[in-house]
Amino acid sequence: MAELLNGQQRTDMCGNLTAESTGKEVTIMGWVHRRRDLGGLIFLQLRDRSGIAQVVFDTDFCDRQLLEKASQIKLEYVVSVSGFVRRRTGNNVNPNMKTGEIEVVATQLKILSEAETTPFSIGDESANELLRLKYRYLDLRRESLQKNLIVRSKLYSIVRNYLSEQGFLEVETPFLGKSTPEGARDYLVPSRVHPGEFYALPQSPQLYKQLLMIGGLDRYFQIVKCFRDEDLRANRQPEFTQIDIEMSFVDREEQLMVIMEGLIAKIFKEIKGIDVKLPLRRLPYSEAMDRFGSDKPDLRFGMEITDITSTVKDSGFALFDNCINNGGTVRCIVAKGLCDSLSRKEIDKLVEFVKTYRAKGLAWYGLGKEGVKSSFAKNLSAEKLAEIEKTAGMEQGDILFAVADKYETTVTALGGLRCHLAKKFNLIQPDKYEMLWVVDFPLFEYSEEEKRFVAMHHPFTSPKNEDLPYLLTDPARCRAKAYDIVINGDEMGGGSMRIYNRDVQRQMFEALGFTDEQIAERFGFFVDAFKYGTPPHGGLAFGLDRLVMTLTGTENIKEVIAFPKIQNASDLMTEAPSKVEDSQLEELCIRCVEEEKTNA
Ligand code: AMO
Repeated sequence: MAELLNGQQRTDMCGNLTAESTGKEVTIMGWVHRRRDLGGLIFLQLRDRSGIAQVVFDTDFCDRQLLEKASQIKLEYVVSVSGFVRRRTGNNVNPNMKTGEIEVVATQLKILSEAETTPFSIGDESANELLRLKYRYLDLRRESLQKNLIVRSKLYSIVRNYLSEQGFLEVETPFLGKSTPEGARDYLVPSRVHPGEFYALPQSPQLYKQLLMIGGLDRYFQIVKCFRDEDLRANRQPEFTQIDIEMSFVDREEQLMVIMEGLIAKIFKEIKGIDVKLPLRRLPYSEAMDRFGSDKPDLRFGMEITDITSTVKDSGFALFDNCINNGGTVRCIVAKGLCDSLSRKEIDKLVEFVKTYRAKGLAWYGLGKEGVKSSFAKNLSAEKLAEIEKTAGMEQGDILFAVADKYETTVTALGGLRCHLAKKFNLIQPDKYEMLWVVDFPLFEYSEEEKRFVAMHHPFTSPKNEDLPYLLTDPARCRAKAYDIVINGDEMGGGSMRIYNRDVQRQMFEALGFTDEQIAERFGFFVDAFKYGTPPHGGLAFGLDRLVMTLTGTENIKEVIAFPKIQNASDLMTEAPSKVEDSQLEELCIRCVEEEKTNA
């Protein structure tokens, strides 16, 4: 029954028809979204990327044959409708529809493609997500998903325009590269012509972009896929997109940050119509950890962490005293007015919650309507309690949560609890954007696993000038010329000024415990390049998917990617990854050990 398009031209997109189109002869094409058959009168809703238009088959304007044809149409058929635009009157006007003031009176209909009943109703967000991902091409017809991809596409062009105007050059870097582990596991690609050898898909183009600076390209950017074989979360995908940037002849963080926040301001202006106040706030890492227990603090609400170590010192309460005597700290947050909103059972759940941050426990003290409720009040004197209330800024109706542990555990647990409570009690105003730079990161972090210092960002991050003398003597005190941009508690991007001095790079490798052989093997080509004239340089990468999530207000990264992967990194639609022909493996000189084990 399907007919040929035969070169017929569409005149308008469905969603663009307005009252001003009244009287116009149009041809629209799309999918049948809804249908209503009233006998002599058939209504269709026709949908394309721009929206939906109502089409009416009315015997006053079409013959019986056309009406008969229209009556055979089912949902999701692809059709072309020609006719004229008519203004709707009275009750027929639909104020909830963008095109609700008009309808297209059909005089011609072509059925271009028939459709079987779809496995879920198009646009139904409540349909099982796994089913929607298996039939992603059908889920892509959903308006909200298309809107997100439209924002994503706009973002590409804003980024390209802005960075080109600022003198950045778009350069592509290879996907088939050398494995230079950066933290996550690499995705490896076997080589046919070099049996037993592998390429690695880039975790980021970090080394290439620095080599582009050595190569004299001056300012580089790329909207680029990165691949990381790591555990997935709501805001992580194994292949994701970065806006990757590097520039030469800068050595201060500020020189790069002002250009980058200009880009963020432009994006928010053009996509959300929001004027971002620049410069963004700069928050040192240590302050972010002290006050918010996170290096990506969500500043849309308060509930900051207070240090009550000196207040509860020598209180006679063993839990606090032992912790402090062992070099630990006691800190708290105060949930304003929430004392009576939290049942004992809910508080117990919060205690379990902080344990996921390795905190041993959670102490609580509330000033409820029916008096004090607390896990520790009976162990402290009235004076101590009054002192705690004062230091923490407590008022009637508030409840305080305290953790006594090592510094890191204490602040991260309270930071996590702070965000958890804000979500639970809807303390976050929608449509609010709180953006900031976190700066002055530590250069190293100590890895308990490896029993050595590892680079917090990567080994090419420049130390702060004033910390250079301590690289080898006191790595823990060294800070990096590194910065992260954080929006609403999510890390949107990060980067650093790079080491361009060979001596500093040598010291850095030494501090990280690399031997000369390891350096030569892992980064030989890279270190060599620095011998021949390296400009001071620095850069950053934004997580593009995360930016689109923020701009569209979605918490699920799959909602901003056309063909995403699920939790176990597989693609339900194509069923990748999948087994390959034995002949393909043979050609690559690869044998599957796992299979041999299973068959043994
Ligand atoms: P980094 O590893 O911080 O830096 O990555 C930059 C930004 O990319 C985003 N991101 C991700 N998004 C989705 N899924 C993932 N699995 C994922 N991993 C990271 C985050 C992050 O802030 N080469 C350095 C940048 C530099 O120093 O210039 C780098 O890759 O938003």
